Order: sequence, then C-alpha cells, then structure tokens
Amino acid sequence: MALCEAIGLTRRFGGNAALQDVTLGFEPATIVALIGPNGSGKTTLFNLLAGQLRPSAGTVRWRGQEITTWAPHRRCRAGINRTFQVAQPFLDLTLAENVALGLLYGAPAEGTRQRPEALEHARDILSDVGLATKVASAARTLSLGELKRLELAMAVATRPALLLVDEVLAGQSPTGSQEILGYLTRLRTQGVAICLVEHRLQALLPVADRVVALHQGRVIAEGRPEAVIKSPAVLEAYLGEPVA
Ligand SMILES: Nc1ncnc2c1ncn2[C@@H]1O[C@H](COP(=O)(O)OP(=O)(O)O)[C@@H](O)[C@H]1O
Ligand SMILES: [Mg+2]
Repeated sequence: MALCEAIGLTRRFGGNAALQDVTLGFEPATIVALIGPNGSGKTTLFNLLAGQLRPSAGTVRWRGQEITTWAPHRRCRAGINRTFQVAQPFLDLTLAENVALGLLYGAPAEGTRQRPEALEHARDILSDVGLATKVASAARTLSLGELKRLELAMAVATRPALLLVDEVLAGQSPTGSQEILGYLTRLRTQGVAICLVEHRLQALLPVADRVVALHQGRVIAEGRPEAVIKSPAVLEAYLGEPVA
C-alpha cells in the first residue's frame, strides 16, 4: 500500500475539467516530479491532496484511510503539507516566527512544543534552506526567491511524511536551485515522500525517482525520468515549448 493514493481524482470548474481521472501513489523516501505545461492541473492536484479543494469525483487515501473530505489542517497534522505556487507567509512576522508556527502546529512530535525551543529549531530549518542571515527579518522584506525558501521551511517545520512542493525553484539562482534540490534529497534520505512541481523539467531530472506528466488534466506518461521525457505524448504536449 502506498503512503498516499489518489484514486480516480477528477476536479471540474464549471464545465472545465482541471483534473480528470488521475490515479497515483506516493511512497516514502521517493521524489516524484510532477510536470506538465501551464494549466495541465498540477496545482489542482496539490489542492486535492492537501485539502484546499474537494474533488468532483475520486478519493484520496492516506496510510490506507480515506481522507477525501478532511480539512487542510487535519491533513497537515496527519503528515501531508505543501508549499504554494504563490507564497503565503504571515508578512508581518519574522521568518523565525513563521517557521515556529509550523513547528508548534504541525504533526505531533517529541519536544519543540514550547515557543523558545520552536524559535531555536526554526533557525536551524531556515539555515538549511539558506536563510540563516534573515531569521529576524519580517517576511515582507523578502524577494520572491527567498519567499519560496521560507515557504519550504514552513512546510518542513510541520514534519510532513508527504511534502508537496509547488515551483519552489521560481526566482532561485542556479546555485540556489542546487541548494534547494540538495536539501530536498536530504529530506528524502530521512524518509519523506516528496512531490515536486516544476514547469521546467531539466533541474529535476537528477533528483527525481519517478516522473508523472500531466496534460489537460490527465496523466499522459509516468515512469523513470529518462523514459518520460522521451515519450511521444510528453514531447507533443510540450510542442512549441522546450521540455527541459
Ligand atoms: N479556482 C479555479 N477556478 C477555475 N478554474 C481553475 C481554478 N483553478 C484552476 N483552474 C483551471 O484548471 C486548469 C488547471 O490549472 P492548474 O492546476 O493551476 O494548472 P498548473 O498548476 O498545471 O499550471 C486551468 O485551466 C485553470 O485555469
Ligand atoms: Mg500551478
């Protein structure tokens, strides 16, 4: 049994199907790259898995239990968390305070339930994502790339067993991107299941164990990275755009 399963997930907005009959599983210690052109349904799938949206049809299972109607905070405490394509931290709180909230209200853990310890632990997580020098700055002072790093730190702070990461490489320098991917591979080593959404595929290839390609809301290819990027369906979906 997979850690998390999407079974026949469909989500319609009015007459438009953003996602159609998507079935996928996520395993511990595995990085899945979710790729596809703009509008192919990647963020919608994250919204269904993390609970921001309910599906029009289909189910979400977590450790074998159906959680399709669970609210986001309940899924977070059970071990599913995500970053947003458009980062949404508390802009007037410091970075350390933003991350401490995740530590205090995420999945239950030993220790780190008191505010001083949470702030200290928050600084460690922030330094893992390259924000050590900004722990005492307000979130509203950050650049786009830094905001994406902060969001990653906030999501990691909730101790997810499944971490959904939406376009975290946006606004990062090449070095910054490598640092983030290095950090995500360390989380994988600790057993975390990770799903990475990126519009550009090239950066993900070295770290992805499996690639799932979406087009017009459907899974059009799935498997080893090298095979998926060469598949005719994927090449056609990206026609007119570089795949990588
Ligand atoms: N809240 C919404 N209301 C209406 N349409 C939406 C909404 N969210 C997404 N869509 C539509 O669903 C499709 C998939 O969007 P999305 O999941 O954001 O794609 P991606 O993340 O792959 O770029 C698009 O056609 C988009 O316009
Ligand atoms: Mg998106």
